[in-house]
Amino acid sequence: MPDSSPPPFGVPEEALGLLFRDARSSTRWAEREVPDEVLREVHELVRWAPSANNSSPMRLVVVRSEHAREIVMEHASRGNRVKLDRAPLILVVASDPRYHEHLDVTAPGLPGLYEVLESRPDARAITAHDSTWLQTGFLIVALRAAGLDVRPMAGFDRPGLCRDLLGDRSWNAELILAVGYPAEDGEHGAGDRRGRPDWDTTTLEL
Ligand SMILES: Cc1cc2nc3c(=O)[nH]c(=O)nc-3n(C[C@H](O)[C@H](O)[C@H](O)COP(=O)(O)O)c2cc1C
Repeated sequence: MPDSSPPPFGVPEEALGLLFRDARSSTRWAEREVPDEVLREVHELVRWAPSANNSSPMRLVVVRSEHAREIVMEHASRGNRVKLDRAPLILVVASDPRYHEHLDVTAPGLPGLYEVLESRPDARAITAHDSTWLQTGFLIVALRAAGLDVRPMAGFDRPGLCRDLLGDRSWNAELILAVGYPAEDGEHGAGDRRGRPDWDTTTLEL
């Protein structure tokens, strides 16, 4: 008898493979540039990700120049330097605890909110950090949707990278992403895929 149950997802199986099932945290990529226009299209999607009170605190540093690349290398852990060296594109994801300077876009028509947030730097730092990480998840999925492979890396000297790459900006470096198109020979360089905890381990039904 034909299966009449509706498909559980509204997107094709192929897309689920690209975004989730087959996507790996690659350490090898094709020697091909990631065009600026592609990044901008990705950003156009990601900026619609949810964030606390629409604070939208995630910031991106597109590491294009040799000088900026050298700074990232200098502050990356030894093991990560090898992988970053192979990456056609490096992104540094940062959070901006001064996100409230953009309330005209993110929360127009809420008088007094700027003053409230200005007086609460500790709360802003938490919001900026938390929502940036959520937005980063969306960023990784959007990069995958553009056909790109991404390796996130937290192994770097944060204070050093903030100081030398971001200077006087209020931004805090949170994560480095090594990005590129899949290697032509199909070798992602991420090794055998390790398991993930299942439903019973990770889910509590109350
Ligand atoms: C927050 C975070 C930090 C990570 N830090 C590093 C890192 O410093 N160096 C590295 O080589 N991989 C790093 N990874 C990559 C993980 O090891 C990888 O995503 C995980 O093993 C799953 O691999 P898979 O997507 O290929 O299954 C990081 C991933 C995340 C999400």
